[in-house]
Amino acid sequence: MQTHEIARRFTEHFVGAGHTRVASASLILDDPTLLFVNAGMVQFKPYFLGDAPPPYPRATSIQKCVRTGDIDEVGKTTRHNTFFQMAGNFSFGDYFKAGAIEHAWNLVTGSQAAGGYGFDPERIWVTVYETDDEAIDLWKKIAGLPDERIQRRDGLDNYWDMGVPGPGGPCSEIYYDRGPEHGKEGGPVADEDRYLEIWNLVFMQDIRGEESPKYGHLPIGSLPKKNIDTGLGIERVAYLLQGVDNVYETDLVRPVIGRAEEFSGRRYGANHEDDVRFRVIADHARSGVMIIGDGVTPSNEGRGYVLRRLLRRIVRSSRLLGVQEPVLESFAEVVRDAMAPSYPELESGFERIAAVVQAEEEAFLQTLTAGSRIFDTAVAETRKTGSTTLAGDQAFQLHDTFGFPIDLTLEMAAEQGLQVDQDRFRTLMEEQRSRAKADAKARKVGHGDGSIYRAVLDTHGTTEFLGYSELAAEATVVGLLVDGVAVPAAREGDHVEVVLDRTPFYAEAGGQQADTGELRGASFTVRVDDVQSPVAGLRVHRGVVTNGDVPLDAAVVAEVDTARRMSVSRAHTATHLVHAGVRGALGPSAAQAGSLNAPGRLRFDFTSPSGAVAPAALAEIEDEVNSVLQENREVQAYETSMAEARKLGAMMLFGEKYGDLVRVVDMGDYSRELCGGTHVGRTGELGMVKVLSEGSIGSGVRRVEALVGLDAFRFLSKEHVLVSSIADQLKARPEDLPERINSLVERLRTAERDLEKVRADAVLSSAGSLADGAEDVGGVALVAVEVPGGVAGNDLRALASDVRARLGARPGVVALFSTDAGKVAFVVATTQAARDRGIAAGKLVPAFGPSVGGRGGGKPDLAQGGGTEPAGIPAALDALRAALRA
Ligand code: SER
Repeated sequence: MQTHEIARRFTEHFVGAGHTRVASASLILDDPTLLFVNAGMVQFKPYFLGDAPPPYPRATSIQKCVRTGDIDEVGKTTRHNTFFQMAGNFSFGDYFKAGAIEHAWNLVTGSQAAGGYGFDPERIWVTVYETDDEAIDLWKKIAGLPDERIQRRDGLDNYWDMGVPGPGGPCSEIYYDRGPEHGKEGGPVADEDRYLEIWNLVFMQDIRGEESPKYGHLPIGSLPKKNIDTGLGIERVAYLLQGVDNVYETDLVRPVIGRAEEFSGRRYGANHEDDVRFRVIADHARSGVMIIGDGVTPSNEGRGYVLRRLLRRIVRSSRLLGVQEPVLESFAEVVRDAMAPSYPELESGFERIAAVVQAEEEAFLQTLTAGSRIFDTAVAETRKTGSTTLAGDQAFQLHDTFGFPIDLTLEMAAEQGLQVDQDRFRTLMEEQRSRAKADAKARKVGHGDGSIYRAVLDTHGTTEFLGYSELAAEATVVGLLVDGVAVPAAREGDHVEVVLDRTPFYAEAGGQQADTGELRGASFTVRVDDVQSPVAGLRVHRGVVTNGDVPLDAAVVAEVDTARRMSVSRAHTATHLVHAGVRGALGPSAAQAGSLNAPGRLRFDFTSPSGAVAPAALAEIEDEVNSVLQENREVQAYETSMAEARKLGAMMLFGEKYGDLVRVVDMGDYSRELCGGTHVGRTGELGMVKVLSEGSIGSGVRRVEALVGLDAFRFLSKEHVLVSSIADQLKARPEDLPERINSLVERLRTAERDLEKVRADAVLSSAGSLADGAEDVGGVALVAVEVPGGVAGNDLRALASDVRARLGARPGVVALFSTDAGKVAFVVATTQAARDRGIAAGKLVPAFGPSVGGRGGGKPDLAQGGGTEPAGIPAALDALRAALRA
């Protein structure tokens, strides 16, 4: 049975039983506790917790999931996968254990002809939480399972939660016995390879605190209702029903291996080492494409870093299979073809996906080429010293200079049988990080750790946001933090974090900078410098108490700095317009990759498959944006369902928040985007948008910077004054300036060259006067000088010989120094008579060389060298005199 068919049957079964079909959420949900969505229940979390009313009592979904905890294990065994699809049925206070067990049993053992999976009931085993007698009774009653195929297990195996405080509950797992050839008898407790878990039924009823009931701790409370959350591993069911051995051989994954076989000319199954590589490629290509599909681009942090690792591991594995050409796009195509029937957005967004992987591959290959040489040298040096540990400093240098992620260094070292001094590496990283981030961190992260903010959230609920329509509002202080500690009152001068029950202040998000302003109480004022949302739903005002004391529960008037907010809003609206303009010009693969909306200016980053945007195209985009301003379009913001927003063609980057309601910002048919930011009422308010620059910020991502409104006008006006004054000075018309400046620069260059030559000639012709100026040092005629004019090399040598010749038959030493670009060059020459006295040029060099931070040498008649410290020349001359006297 094909994987898509397995998913289809699941959905059909539960829709038939009154469940609402809910689409997979994006892999990227706005949950600060998760890097990627890793279970079907994540998008429903607020319904379990009672934070939001469930729109339906029962739901079913096929959720794309990514778990990246054991990337390193992928491929080494056939069990680990970073991407999988979890099919689930959910009850929000509707049916409970009996319903969950009955539904699961019917689908698993129902005949294939009747729409089930047709597993042999005799080979099904289940586990239940150690004290869950009720579940045992139900399994017997509903499924007729005998006692010996129901096993009790403790919390470690049969209690499920999200790994963080939140919903949880005991669970019951369904296993399929693959037969004696796969392991020993005795059920899941004895062998989880032979008995393969296919479905987990969670009886979601508890709230877990900091410590999990998994490890024997008590839950801290009960959920408002008893719920069901189940997860069936689609890929596992697929490999059982397709009669293959593991997920890599199923219909949706094997084709990627097939493509890698074509590329490499090697066969999967021939040897373990290559198989590991094939499996890494197959697994990572799937998760990589799915992650990019949900809007992530490679970077050095968070999700972007995980993605980067996945993609780079594919490229390396391919190299190790002997493939030299670029591979990522081709693998991505195979993934698209396999997955698009369930995820059509892979088809429509493929151009962008391809652009992202191409850029990453290109960047990585450069890194790999440059870094590999350094790595090889480091390995050779390590071996030479007889050590088996690569120095942390070298790993750091690879990272810092060549962009080698530490994981790559670790992997490559392991392939060479070496370890890496990771402690030292981490210390160096830490030092670098704290240097770079000290300031930014203090400002952004604030002081409180997540639990303090969550406690405020639990007690007072989310902060109501009024800022779409109000810029001042009355509110109550519900949380106060000083130095990261909750306090009953803050004093004048304190740096404080204030949480209000409602606020007009916009917290930094979606590239839009936070509002600033004031909180005024009866007897105090707080200046608000920043607003952040450290946990979803909570807005924290950061600033300083400028007078009075602030007590908890105080009433305040919260007032946003209106001029600044308006300016930021104009920038945000302008960003949407630039986004629309860029996409209009470059096509839909130019997708937003980040933005900044600050007072009067914006930054917009986007993926560009075709590299730089030509200046003419950029000018056209700018022109178009400004004409939209002139049309004075209305900017409308409204909430609608995700489905409706999609239908309207709204641009969306990341999957939106929980639930299905999204906010759309719309400027007629020119621009329509999902957005939580603030905007102006009509485009005319922007006045003007001036694009300043367009450039690469690496990895196929381009950046446009622009000014908005009065800032744009002032910039142009200043430029105008500047151009006028240059035109005046050069006595040219502004339009003739480029040519005029070109010709001036050309003339200047020629003049400099001529001057240089004149200078050199003058120096070379100075041999006579230099010889005349010889001083007598212990009976030796010494000419020791610094010659001006950057004379070096052959010229310096020629000059020294010329001076020497003029000293005639006298014992004589000529030492000439010259400096150029911070470097010293010197030449020493001796006459025959000097040499007869035992004075050798080559022997003099060590006497004065160190004074100029240099060395050199040569024969008795002529020696030369160089140094790095021009300031030491007088000392060198003295040292030379001293040497001749000695
Ligand atoms: N949430 C449970 C799991 O991830 C069941 O869906 O296993």
